[in-house]
Amino acid sequence: MPLFSSVRIGSLALPNRIVMAPLTRRRASAGKIPNELNALHYAQRASAGLIITESVEVDPRSGGNAPTRPGIFNESQAEGWRKVTEAIHAHGGRVYIQLSHLGRASHPLMLVDDQEPVGPSPIAAEGMAFTPQGPKPFPVPHALEEKEIPAIVAQFAHAARLAKAANFDGVEIHGANGYLIDEFLRDGSNRRTDNYGGSLENRARFLLEVTEAVIAIWGSDRVGVRLSPLNTFNGMSDSNPREIFAYAAQALNRMNLAYLHLVEPAPAEAEKTAPEITGLIREAFKGPLILAGGYTKERAEQAVASGIADLIAFGEAYIANPDLPERFRTGAALNAPDRSTFYGGDSKGYTDYPALEAAMSETA
Ligand SMILES: Cc1cc2nc3c(=O)[nH]c(=O)nc-3n(C[C@H](O)[C@H](O)[C@H](O)COP(=O)(O)O)c2cc1C
Repeated sequence: MPLFSSVRIGSLALPNRIVMAPLTRRRASAGKIPNELNALHYAQRASAGLIITESVEVDPRSGGNAPTRPGIFNESQAEGWRKVTEAIHAHGGRVYIQLSHLGRASHPLMLVDDQEPVGPSPIAAEGMAFTPQGPKPFPVPHALEEKEIPAIVAQFAHAARLAKAANFDGVEIHGANGYLIDEFLRDGSNRRTDNYGGSLENRARFLLEVTEAVIAIWGSDRVGVRLSPLNTFNGMSDSNPREIFAYAAQALNRMNLAYLHLVEPAPAEAEKTAPEITGLIREAFKGPLILAGGYTKERAEQAVASGIADLIAFGEAYIANPDLPERFRTGAALNAPDRSTFYGGDSKGYTDYPALEAAMSETA
């Protein structure tokens, strides 16, 4: 079975091609500190070829939408993460941390001292921010001045250093889903006329600066990037996604990354556009490519067998199936995810989905 052949990403050898996609679950402790419950959740999923953590904030100003969204900008958070990485490693797994800055997809009520969210241009995200006082429309962000950008790149570097201290196996830069890096890439949210807007080179500059800063700490063989060329979440758009994402993939290709990770739209919407853009990126980026977005075991096997992907990341299936590789291998049925427990809460819907053995002994 193609999903069960080993594969290298950078300097890491993975026993299979099944990746646990980054999944925000909002169950960190006060101070955005990961805890024992988080460690158990991830350790239960250690048979994945690679685990990518939920989105983790690089700075108190990077825009978290709940006190329970974890961070990695101070020592206590790094200490909490060390418990998570130890638990995963003790169970034989490997884990990258997803570093993120939410940019305009935030709200003053979510930021320290009621600061304004930041973005490339003064254009509000569409939709609602889930603030401590309930849902509120996303505000017009403060458009970052060119001189403010190095400090944000430095936040990613600081977080990357702490991630190293926390014994992660590598870092995934969150360049997807309408957050700050994605906002710079796409011209629906980036109308700048300086060195960070306009041309493809300028719009990719922030992504590439962040990537270089993280590589300086980790080495390129321990750094991956996630992009979502067609995701319209939070009102994201681009007048020519093929151009900007093929450009970004070519530029990232020159950096010898551990991998590039693409979020594709779910198959129903994706039929026309996704295969084409994924194909362009596959051509431009010669290293390992991870695809995510509505994959079943069957579609995943086809994608790997056809060579369009090297690995497949699973989101919702991993929420409900801690032993997903074993279920795929044996053809066992999958547990169904409970959406009401996706965001926030306790062990319910987080660490209590049964593994196959437990499920079988219950029915025996
Ligand atoms: C509850 C939930 C939380 C998510 N959190 C993140 C996140 O923190 N970072 C990210 O890049 N994507 C996140 N995603 C997107 C997933 O990583 C994945 O791309 C998406 O679920 C599609 O894959 P699937 O169809 O296999 O679930 C999240 C998805 C869900 C359902």
